Amino acid sequence: MQQREQWNSRLGFILAAAGSAIGLGNIWRFPYVVYDNGGGAFLIPYFFALLTAGIPILLLEFGIGRLGGGSAPLALSRLSRRFEWLGWWQVMICFVITTFYVVVVAWSLSYFFYSFNLNWGTDTKAFLFGTYLGVPDGVVTEAGWKLGGLQWQVFLPLAAVWLGVYYVLQRGVRRGIEKVSRIFMPILLVIMVLFVIRAVTLPGASVGLNHLFTPDFGKILPAFLGGTNPDWASVWIAAYGQIFFSLSIAFAIMVTYASYLDKKQDVNNSAFITAFSNSGFEFLAAIGVFAAIGFMAVSSGLDVKDVATAGVGLAFVVFPQIINEFPTLNGTFGALFFLSLVIAGFTSLISVIEVLIAAVMDKFRLTRKATVNWICGICALISLMYVTGAGIIFLDIVDHFINNFGIVIAGLLEVILIGWFAKATSIREENNLVSDFKIGSWWNVMIMGITPLVLLVMTYQNFTVEFSKAYEGYPFHALLTFGWLMLAMTLIVTFVLTYAFKWKTAAHEGGVQA
Ligand code: PHE
Repeated sequence: MQQREQWNSRLGFILAAAGSAIGLGNIWRFPYVVYDNGGGAFLIPYFFALLTAGIPILLLEFGIGRLGGGSAPLALSRLSRRFEWLGWWQVMICFVITTFYVVVVAWSLSYFFYSFNLNWGTDTKAFLFGTYLGVPDGVVTEAGWKLGGLQWQVFLPLAAVWLGVYYVLQRGVRRGIEKVSRIFMPILLVIMVLFVIRAVTLPGASVGLNHLFTPDFGKILPAFLGGTNPDWASVWIAAYGQIFFSLSIAFAIMVTYASYLDKKQDVNNSAFITAFSNSGFEFLAAIGVFAAIGFMAVSSGLDVKDVATAGVGLAFVVFPQIINEFPTLNGTFGALFFLSLVIAGFTSLISVIEVLIAAVMDKFRLTRKATVNWICGICALISLMYVTGAGIIFLDIVDHFINNFGIVIAGLLEVILIGWFAKATSIREENNLVSDFKIGSWWNVMIMGITPLVLLVMTYQNFTVEFSKAYEGYPFHALLTFGWLMLAMTLIVTFVLTYAFKWKTAAHEGGVQA
């Protein structure tokens, strides 16, 4: 067995962890979540969620990875044989995410090139869905799908992203992931700062920022505290949802990355630094995005609420419009925005695939080279389904189900199994022994009490909403296949990987028992 790789430096580890955390979610999701959930007042639930769940779980995952010294299934099975399957389930969730996240990075890459000549024209929506994605009319009906064939204009950037991913992962942890993070993360920060400076100096920027930050405390409080929003609890749930997704926790990513730490390396301080860099970046992005939205609203005489949105609509419909409206240097501004999406997305993508690589290497005792060939090959093949005309619909459904059920339930199981049954305290104590500062017993209260409670409520709420109406009004067969059956598949493969194969890694026996 070859020696397990380690990060070259603490900074390298932190940059890689931040590279995973800072992703599309920070740029296209966070700004709208704040705007939609009480503006400035949302910062209260946000920081509450960060301190009660985000940082505690980050500490937990760093601890599991560092102590376990292996991929998620190996590290968890070293805590207890009964936990191995949970690691594989997280691996399967990462597998599913990989296959569509890579496609969004590819779209961003296309749009980076399109921005130089504003190729998207004036009707950016028609361009996205018609010309670029090639979505056929009546793409999904009760009767079935219209696939619309492979879209070469999406296939080419996708192939380019896969080549990049393949190259970095073949080079390994130090020479690949760490190096890319060291180069890309500072560049990303510079790009974001330039983008924000340009955005806030646009006419109308302050209108957008006022909409973003003006606090609406009524929205976050229950009625007996003066709240005006009967659905105030969903604001708090949105805060937890954002923190989970944004920090890349409950995906086993942070377990995997921490497993490459030198055993004597600090983890507590690194967790705080990672979390705060992620939040800092998120705020920066929100300022840039809403300043640009304010500019768009004022220059086209619309209301901010008619322009503000998130996700695909924000990045590929509204932003191209904003860029069209620009007084000067449209191309440069567009390129900066889309390059930030490409870079932020790429470093997150690498992290999510490394979860698969590490797990397969550990269990089957394969070399990195062979594992990367297999994993990238299989994922690349599956990602082709999102390159058809129906791809964006597949993506929308898979993304919705994996986030609302996969990640949330895996997170719930993680805190319950480890918090209640695996002596979480000893993980905290082990972390404290090597860290710059110590974490007190408040952490146990979060991991064993508050976080499981919130996740339980979230799971309940997600199921209720799901059963009360068809997601996006899609036909039942579509939700069944790409939602429920997809989730069932992840579970079936999980149990096959856990129980049908024996560990080829002898090191499995010599684990640290918490
Ligand atoms: N933290 C990432 C983001 O904000 C989430 C993510 C990580 C998604 C890795 C996929 C893969 O976008």
